Amino acid sequence: MALENPFVPYLATLKSAMELTPDVKLMGVELEDPAIKAAFDYKPGQFAFLSAFGVGESPFGIVSLPQRNNHLEFAVRQVGTVTRALHELELGDTLGVRGPFGNYFPLEQYRGKDVVIIGGGIGMAPLRPVINTILDHRDEYGKLLIINGARTPQDLVFAPEFKTWMEASRTKLELTVDRGDERWGGREALVPDVVREVAPSPDNAIAIICGPLIMIRFTLTVLKDLGFKDHQIVTTLEAKMKCGMGKCARCNLGEKYVCRDGPVFTMEQISQFLEQP
Ligand code: FES
Repeated sequence: MALENPFVPYLATLKSAMELTPDVKLMGVELEDPAIKAAFDYKPGQFAFLSAFGVGESPFGIVSLPQRNNHLEFAVRQVGTVTRALHELELGDTLGVRGPFGNYFPLEQYRGKDVVIIGGGIGMAPLRPVINTILDHRDEYGKLLIINGARTPQDLVFAPEFKTWMEASRTKLELTVDRGDERWGGREALVPDVVREVAPSPDNAIAIICGPLIMIRFTLTVLKDLGFKDHQIVTTLEAKMKCGMGKCARCNLGEKYVCRDGPVFTMEQISQFLEQP
């Protein structure tokens, strides 16, 4: 949908807030104007800015799906003043929403293929709507492999959804942490090492990676060793953003703008920027 003035946020109300990890909250946000709410169409991979009035705004991937969720959902990790102000909002408080912006995962092109989702830490956020879309149309896709890593078991962001993911047909969830605790009986390994161990086949497959840049770089090497070609590897990038519309030049990657040309890119488009230093 086109914003009347894309720099002016829509008014919205905080409807739900759930602690996902010690520093990440799942925030459910409802646009106040029913007409704007009805017209706010978005797809997996797109993002929006949330504003805490008087403090500032930051971009977040939209983690809900219009067909599943009545409210927009965002996984907000507390890392600075804006995110702290967003975390401090109470249910019923007003905030601003500007968006949706950016491109999206071309999920229709993945139909009939195996999909490998590789997420580290808060990087799982933009991948959640991709997983849920595939689960909602399970017959239209091949095998789904989800490899999810985090620093500790408490930092696995979508733990409340793991059971559903694990029980879905032709779906496998592989979890790993850097550092387990006394209750953790699973892997303690880095994400790229788990990808190498699980060794998904590149045949008729797409791999989608999101996480810290260092994880993306090392995972890329492993996927290439496994036979994945650049056009079979997709990522969504984070960048410092101000406008969200390709106007302020804050988020450039060579000649591309992450906000306008991305945040979803194939490795074919951006591999030169991700090569290991
Ligand atoms: S945020 Fe302004 S050009 Fe991307």
